[in-house]
Amino acid sequence: MKASAIANANIALVKYWGKRNKELMLPNNGSISMTTEGLCAHTTVEFDEKYTQDQLVLNGNEIKPGTEDYDDYVGKFLSVVRQISGTDLKVKIVSNNNFPTAAGLASSAAGFAALAAAVSKALNLPMDAKNLSMLARRGSGSATRSVLGGFVEWKRGEKEDGSDSYAEQIVDENFWPEFRMIICVTSKKEKKVKSRAGMAQTVKTSPMYKAWLETVDNDLETVRKAILEKDFTTVGKTAEENCLKMHATMITTKPPIIYWNAGTMEIIHAVMDWRDEGLESYFTIDAGPQVKIMCLEKDVNEIVKRVKQFSHIEDVIITKPGSGVKIVDDHLF
Ligand code: PMV
Repeated sequence: MKASAIANANIALVKYWGKRNKELMLPNNGSISMTTEGLCAHTTVEFDEKYTQDQLVLNGNEIKPGTEDYDDYVGKFLSVVRQISGTDLKVKIVSNNNFPTAAGLASSAAGFAALAAAVSKALNLPMDAKNLSMLARRGSGSATRSVLGGFVEWKRGEKEDGSDSYAEQIVDENFWPEFRMIICVTSKKEKKVKSRAGMAQTVKTSPMYKAWLETVDNDLETVRKAILEKDFTTVGKTAEENCLKMHATMITTKPPIIYWNAGTMEIIHAVMDWRDEGLESYFTIDAGPQVKIMCLEKDVNEIVKRVKQFSHIEDVIITKPGSGVKIVDDHLF
């Protein structure tokens, strides 16, 4: 009962921020993302009687049951898996990311999408995108979207049991191959406030949260339509506005959650200046200090050249629409 999967991360154009049900990981709003080629998690799982306890090795480090990092994430996820599958076998999980973990680079999205697929394969659970995305959702909300490739929408859903809150593909990874995201890593340090705690506090205390919810549906409709029309200006502009609205709710949370650093600000201002010059680019930022610059293929070299001159850049990663989760034969142990 061993299986492996590889899943790409994703970056949201219309963000998910806030849950209506913490247990079932149901969002207050729908979201749209691009699955990112080459930023992936590779995960192997094995359920077997030879294991006397669950084991998790993430990027070469063992994360033990009983720690918060284990219990709140993989531990909870495995309880769901055991409830669905009926298995009481223990499992060994080994997972590697090829990009910084927990620094606002959607590592949990790739990780839980790969884990959901590997576990489903190993335990013979349904492998269709709807079921896989609903299982991935129980590990991390953003993982719901990483199950599919290209541009993906995670439907908020209306039902209390979450059975209509899953991912659907808007277009696949070959539809708009010129679309690029340039990920500017301004710090590789782990963020202080994890997205789960951050969003819960925002929902509870930000006076801006209501306004966020009132405008998201409109952003979803605009971005969905603009993707289908390959209207880069509308996608970029709306995604940037949506990101700033989400950060407005974070900044006005009590106590404030400010994910940006000096490097983040430097790039925000630069992108706005470049646009005035005619170099069309937009930014989006998640729960961390990294800036993702959206542009078209023709402008990548010029933008990367400029980004590399900034003082706070630790890494630059160029990505484009990538594929959904895949089962692979390559086992990590
Ligand atoms: O599901 P999480 O815990 O990875 O939260 C994701 C939150 C954002 O990255 C800020 C937005 C998003 O939709 O990916």
